Amino acid sequence: MARTIVVHSHRGGTGKSSVLANLALLIAAGGRRVGVVDTDIQSPTLDLLFRLGPGPSLADYLLGRCEIEAAAQPVGVPGLYVVPARTGTAALRELMTSGYDVGLLPEGFDRLVEHYALDVLLLDTHAGLNNESVTAMASADVLMILARADRIDLSGVEETIALAGRLACRRALVMSMAPEGIDGRQVRRRAEEVYGAPLAGILPYVPEMAALYGERIFAEAHPDHPLVGEFRTIISALDAPHEVSRA
Ligand SMILES: Nc1ncnc2c1ncn2[C@@H]1O[C@H](COP(=O)(O)OP(=O)(O)O)[C@@H](O)[C@H]1O
Ligand SMILES: [Mg+2]
Repeated sequence: MARTIVVHSHRGGTGKSSVLANLALLIAAGGRRVGVVDTDIQSPTLDLLFRLGPGPSLADYLLGRCEIEAAAQPVGVPGLYVVPARTGTAALRELMTSGYDVGLLPEGFDRLVEHYALDVLLLDTHAGLNNESVTAMASADVLMILARADRIDLSGVEETIALAGRLACRRALVMSMAPEGIDGRQVRRRAEEVYGAPLAGILPYVPEMAALYGERIFAEAHPDHPLVGEFRTIISALDAPHEVSRA
């Protein structure tokens, strides 16, 4: 049975796409078959991060122009496939004006899992709540919520958890871009107080990550960096059979 992991945050720029790309590479490098779909049609990223070539996209699939499996490109390590959100803004305009059947999203996710015999499907989302992010969340076995250690991100977590509470998925809360010197134990304690369960991980702010300018995926560029160890800790938490973080 494939496991669907959705990465979401209340605000943009929290590190969703970067973290997802690293998790995807590391899980695939560990021998599992991994599919990635960039559902962030408003501000796609994964085509650039994974240096995808030209080809059909999720938007083409939603507009009825191709099968979803035709939009998946093999990248990086064997057994890793990425579906880009769109190429260019024409498809975005079209999707916004003509709309699309959101039921095509879960149908497409299932089809990818079956066609590529995936063990893990990772879904990237646009920040906040919109058609694609809520539909992706409804397909999740595990919803990974990223938040920086500030009041605005954390109030967004409450909102997302309130919504996710109605979905049959596990939740994993990850603190992202934690500033240097932050008291990890205190952050954990406060998160436990507010969200009622341990954090799945705390990712520090790493200047080397910012300095990559999206040119490479961090785990490829710095395989021995402690941040990659943190990514592996998060993968173990996502693999765990029990609830990682419950409201
Ligand atoms: N732990 C980190 N430390 C420093 N910079 C980070 C970290 N995680 C992500 N970034 C940088 O933050 C920016 C936004 O990340 P991105 O993954 O695009 O966020 P989102 O998908 O949530 O909008 C990128 O330039 C990325 O390199
Ligand atoms: Mg993103």
